[in-house]
Amino acid sequence: MLSLSSLGLQGACAFALLWTLVLSPLATASSAADYYVRSLPGAPAGPLLKMHAGHIEVDPETNGNLFFWHYQNRHIANRQRTVIWLNGGPGCSSMDGALMEVGPYRLKNDHTLEYNNGSWAEFANLLFVDQPVGTGFSYVSTNKYLSELNEMSAHFMVFLEKFFELFPEYERDDIYLSGESYAGQHIPHIAKAIQERNKVAAKEGKTQWPIKGLLIGNGWISPKDQYPANFDFARRQGLLQEGTQTYRQLEALQSVCLAKLEDAGGNKLHTPECEVVLREFLQLTVQDGQCYNMYDIRLKDTFASCGMNWPPDLEYMEPYLRRDDVIEALNINPAKKTGWQECTNMVSDAFKASNSVPAIDLLPGLLESNVKVLLFSGDQDLICNHLGTEQLIHNMKWKGGTGFETSPGVWARRHDWSFEGEPAGIYQHARNLTYVLFYNASHMVPFDMPRQSRDMLDRFLRVDIASIGGRPADSRIDGEKLPQTSVGGQANSTTAEQHEKEKMKQTELHAYTKSGEAILVIVIIGVIVWGFFIWRSRRSHQGYRGVLNKEPGTGSVLDRFHNKHSSSDVEAGDFDESELDQLHLPEAESEHYTVGDASDDEDYGTHPTHPSASNRGP
Ligand SMILES: *[C@@H]1O[C@H](CO)[C@@H](O)[C@H](O)[C@H]1NC(C)=O
Ligand SMILES: *[C@@H]1O[C@H](CO)[C@@H](O)[C@H](O)[C@H]1NC(C)=O
Ligand SMILES: *[C@@H]1O[C@H](CO)[C@@H](O)[C@H](O)[C@H]1NC(C)=O
Ligand SMILES: *[C@@H]1O[C@H](CO)[C@@H](O)[C@H](O)[C@H]1NC(C)=O
Repeated sequence: MLSLSSLGLQGACAFALLWTLVLSPLATASSAADYYVRSLPGAPAGPLLKMHAGHIEVDPETNGNLFFWHYQNRHIANRQRTVIWLNGGPGCSSMDGALMEVGPYRLKNDHTLEYNNGSWAEFANLLFVDQPVGTGFSYVSTNKYLSELNEMSAHFMVFLEKFFELFPEYERDDIYLSGESYAGQHIPHIAKAIQERNKVAAKEGKTQWPIKGLLIGNGWISPKDQYPANFDFARRQGLLQEGTQTYRQLEALQSVCLAKLEDAGGNKLHTPECEVVLREFLQLTVQDGQCYNMYDIRLKDTFASCGMNWPPDLEYMEPYLRRDDVIEALNINPAKKTGWQECTNMVSDAFKASNSVPAIDLLPGLLESNVKVLLFSGDQDLICNHLGTEQLIHNMKWKGGTGFETSPGVWARRHDWSFEGEPAGIYQHARNLTYVLFYNASHMVPFDMPRQSRDMLDRFLRVDIASIGGRPADSRIDGEKLPQTSVGGQANSTTAEQHEKEKMKQTELHAYTKSGEAILVIVIIGVIVWGFFIWRSRRSHQGYRGVLNKEPGTGSVLDRFHNKHSSSDVEAGDFDESELDQLHLPEAESEHYTVGDASDDEDYGTHPTHPSASNRGP
């Protein structure tokens, strides 16, 4: 079915493209079909998941374009939901989340994908966005990087507005914002911006986007509570021994940090005096050239990377995402963005957020407007460790209480969570805030615990497995099994079987589409010839100055159009974009696009581990 409708759309789109090119140079054409991912190099055998990817322009002035990768859910369980996932940095690509954490595919090596049994796209549409502009595959004119959280959320609103115009079928989904690390700042700001946008939309009679919940993993949310936790965590984990020289040095730095936080009065996003504590800890504990991995203290890394080379899948990500066929499959214009890199220093350097409100100040208001919040932590992370998260919860006031207080002086219990017979962590809940501690997990919880993380998502989303059937995972809280979720394997039910049948049909349709495409090409050629004549007649009647300096012969138009769809000639495939650019943007030639420098990791010394820089999307 998807093939059929996309065939129709593709026809419409080809027509629109031609119209734009020939008759209406000022309009831009794009439709869902332009974003359809037809194939994905290295994908497992069998029908491909339904995916869309590509760029959406968020700021024409600065050429700001955000890249997204969207996966349609495999099953709809009682409601339609969209989960948006963002990695941190700022400046780290959400492809981390897509290919190493919650996305449906993971890299087995640099050219083979395998299915992730903990995929968050099982019961929810899943949307990854590289943002702010300049991050990952997203781009912007050089020196136009963002510096504040409100600029970031403004771009994100433009993105969502256009995304839902392209894909109106998702606009009424329950929306959940999720992510990790510095996304702990992005997520509450975006949620707030959505609420404000909804107020205006209500007046204008437009669809409101139902923002239901936030999930933040090892988030950088409240600097005031979280900075001091680095020293505390290192001490509690026994990485530092009291009475040693190192301990005393760090203790002295810690007291400077605490004094600075005290003086600041408010909660500032960035305090260099505190960042030095973590940096010095990593440096002073170097042994044989190895330092602690700040994202997983069970591991070591070479100094001064201290975790920047981790996780191991990163080794496959860069070569995979730089392949021409992958770039083409993801609808990335190779002229505009090449050389994917995990974290872009130019983005994080610019993103000072010095005039921004820290996310912790927004959380109470969001909770009070009935947006549910889940904060989760891997217990082995140092840089955004669970002690800091527990501290920020402890100090936060919302809905007439403080922290996990259920009534004055009474605290919500910590419930033991087990998954398939193994202790998995702890759950704690009060007044619509949930905290989940994962045992034996790093800064990137879903990397270590894919199925457990999906179980957490399904509980939070209240996915009703009864509507799908399937084999529930053995996940228990205090020994209680409810509600049931299914993680791993596939749901086994009427719905699931129907789904399988549909997939079979789609495969058949796919074959059918192939022959349909041939017919389409003939139709397109006809339309082109017709369009060309109209164009020529307009040209001669109105003395309209042609877009192209040279006289375009019929042959060349056809060639170029053919190339656009022959999908093997990437260079030639670009013709329409570049010519259209010249057409509406004569100044475009003076613009430069971000092409990442590959030297991020070596930058450690000059760019200390202040969480806003190295607290990357891992
Ligand atoms: C929690 O949020 C729900 C809506 O999601 C709301 O109906 C409920 O009243 C909230 N509970 C508390 C204790 O505030
Ligand atoms: C996982 O964490 C639990 C609780 O902290 C601990 O008892 C167990 O030994 C850990 N398992 C591994 C494999 O590290
Ligand atoms: C995923 O689940 C399937 C079915 O239960 C199983 O055969 C497969 O080994 C699992 N894959 C991984 C990587 O755990
Ligand atoms: C799925 O259903 C079949 C029968 O249709 C049954 O034999 C099989 O055990 C079921 N699998 C699971 C995992 O429930």
